[in-house]
Amino acid sequence: MGQFEQMLYMAIAYLLFVQSYPQKDNSIRFIAFGDGGGLPHPPYTTNVQKATANEMGRVAQESGADFVLNVGDNFYYRGVNNVNDLRFKETFENVFTAPSIVNIPWYILAGNHDHLGNVSAQIAYSRISKRWNFPDLYYELSFKIPNIDVSATILMIDTVVICGNTDKDNQPKGPKKYHLAQKQLQWIQEKLARSRSDYLIVAGHYPVWSIGKHGPTPCLVKHLKPLLEKYNVTAYISGHDHSLQFIRKDDGTGYIVTGSGTFIDKSTAHIKKIPTSWLQFYNAKISALGGFTLIEMSPVHLVVSYRQPYGMVVFQTILPRRKLTSNEN
Ligand SMILES: *[C@@H]1O[C@H](CO)[C@@H](O)[C@H](O)[C@H]1NC(C)=O
Ligand SMILES: *[C@@H]1O[C@H](CO)[C@@H](O)[C@H](O)[C@H]1NC(C)=O
Repeated sequence: MGQFEQMLYMAIAYLLFVQSYPQKDNSIRFIAFGDGGGLPHPPYTTNVQKATANEMGRVAQESGADFVLNVGDNFYYRGVNNVNDLRFKETFENVFTAPSIVNIPWYILAGNHDHLGNVSAQIAYSRISKRWNFPDLYYELSFKIPNIDVSATILMIDTVVICGNTDKDNQPKGPKKYHLAQKQLQWIQEKLARSRSDYLIVAGHYPVWSIGKHGPTPCLVKHLKPLLEKYNVTAYISGHDHSLQFIRKDDGTGYIVTGSGTFIDKSTAHIKKIPTSWLQFYNAKISALGGFTLIEMSPVHLVVSYRQPYGMVVFQTILPRRKLTSNEN
């Protein structure tokens, strides 16, 4: 190859690189994953959790991830006992070790297994670990894409408070405290109604839609889905079913299930619960050793990229910026 061709190839390679990894200043990216709670006995982790954690480190490094969103079931099978529980070290600190995910914030919420233990201790751990951010059972995150006027809001919610805990593998049995469920739903409604953000994301543990072993959560289909639709929520991110899924009806909210942080369950038991056309992606290959999503919010759109060890991009899709009607401005 002549020198000129070589330079041309390098220029093209560079342009392709720049295109797939837009200037960091112009977007926000984060890793979202769930059900990364390891095991309650030695080695306190699984091969799936280790491989997923390593791939998260690699992808965070390569893409310059700004933060990690953890959608619950942080410690199997009964959460933690107190803030000094060795599980914080054995299942979390010792597993997610790459500098690219050690040195960025993690935003945490609780899943059904966490609620079987001491969730206050998980909240209190925020004072001990620099990366662990779990200020309350539910809270709001706001971001501005640097240098341009594009904003994003993420509501971290507690679906166990809203719907109750599960008994074995059944559906949640209804909230333990009805008034706390109502109070949180009210908070969600008010936050969504007021949001002018270009990207509006809600994250919780239980899925709204899923074709996996647990399937859709009727309580959320009834109480949360209408709010997500009414306020044009860009995406709802959840775990609980141990697979990767992308479900979307036409141009509505994108439903992301990313629950293969420790285990993989290839069940498609609830495939009949949603129209075939809504299911745009499903993956629960045991051999793939887990996975997660990388979400990039750019000035033009949001890209959801489903990742698995080792270096596999198994699905990618785009969600548009919200269109806010002018009379609401
Ligand atoms: C939960 O953890 C906190 C922080 O370690 C502790 O103060 C509290 O006593 C624990 N609650 C129970 C019921 O063990
Ligand atoms: C949601 O999007 C639709 C269609 O783009 C629009 O007509 C509606 O006003 C939007 N609602 C809100 C709350 O932004």
